[in-house]
Amino acid sequence: MNLKILLLPGDGIGAEVTSAAVEVLNATLKKFGHTVEYTEGLIGGTAIHKTGKPLPEDTMKKALAADATLMGAVGLPEFDNTPPSQRPERGLLDLRGGMEVFANLRPVKAWPSLIESSPLKNHLVEGVDLLIVRELTGGLYFGTPRGIVWDTEHGGAGDRAYNTMNYSRLEISRIARMAFKFARQRRKHLTSVDKPNVLECSQLWRKVVTEIGAEFPDVELEHMLVDTCAMQLVLNPKRFDVILTENMFGDILSDEGAVLAGSIGMLPSASLGEKKGLYEPVHGSAPDIAGQNKANPLGAIGSAAAMLEYSFGLVKEAAAINAAVSKVLDAGQVTADLKPKGKPLTTSEVGKAVSEAL
Ligand code: IPM
Ligand code: MN
Repeated sequence: MNLKILLLPGDGIGAEVTSAAVEVLNATLKKFGHTVEYTEGLIGGTAIHKTGKPLPEDTMKKALAADATLMGAVGLPEFDNTPPSQRPERGLLDLRGGMEVFANLRPVKAWPSLIESSPLKNHLVEGVDLLIVRELTGGLYFGTPRGIVWDTEHGGAGDRAYNTMNYSRLEISRIARMAFKFARQRRKHLTSVDKPNVLECSQLWRKVVTEIGAEFPDVELEHMLVDTCAMQLVLNPKRFDVILTENMFGDILSDEGAVLAGSIGMLPSASLGEKKGLYEPVHGSAPDIAGQNKANPLGAIGSAAAMLEYSFGLVKEAAAINAAVSKVLDAGQVTADLKPKGKPLTTSEVGKAVSEAL
């Protein structure tokens, strides 16, 4: 197979973790007799510097032309006081919207050799294997109207800001169907997370998810309030199989999930729609350690594995990467965030170790 992949390293540690992931991809594709063509594009703060825009048209065009896109990270501290519409993050949101990748899969797994890396008690974390299915192109992230009204006349006393949470039946049903399908391939349990005691959006969410649930009688459906879910994720994470939730709740809960996996650097993600796939680690651009060859590339490497599986159907190849990651973890060949007993490896050394373990 010949794979056409767009690389979007982006900002901060994005470039470092993406190049480690590319090394692993190349080693895997070579081993299994595939060929690959890469194109590269700009996104985020780096793109603002070079083109004035967080998502240049050229990048969007390349993403629609490629079979799949592997993204690093976006975000730079110099834009901290910039309005959301001109920030690096907007580039990623527009990319997700433009590619129509409405389903973001964020698996959270407690790797046996990383149990000690989690601050939670071992018995809570051991055996955790859950999948967060986050709605990715709706809700507060995209809803209009939105804005800030500055009350300059009164020295800011009347400043006001507003966002809109907004979900349609179509948006809820398509992500719900996707989540139920994944639950069917796993332990057949789905927790839909919402807040209908406060939000109308969640009332519609619960109604539609319940209706879709009737199409999947073999999957057990439960509903849970988002605050309860936040607590259950650290009290009893093993109770979860698939967690289905809206965009903002999913953003927050997946960072909490990172605690179970030992480090946010471990978490991969796959963003899927009807056509295209976008693959990105869950972590951000980590400007504090950028350029130091210290960042954990395993989230990016896991995202590359997910790309092989979901965009290309290369299940064996993806499994080979995950098995190699497991070996490297067992051997303690990890970056500093995972607090190894010996000397921590660099980003590129981890990339090389995984490639060799293949
Ligand atoms: C994530 C990130 C993004 C999000 C940011 C960078 C826009 O936090 O992928 O979880 O909020 O979706
Ligand atoms: Mn996030």
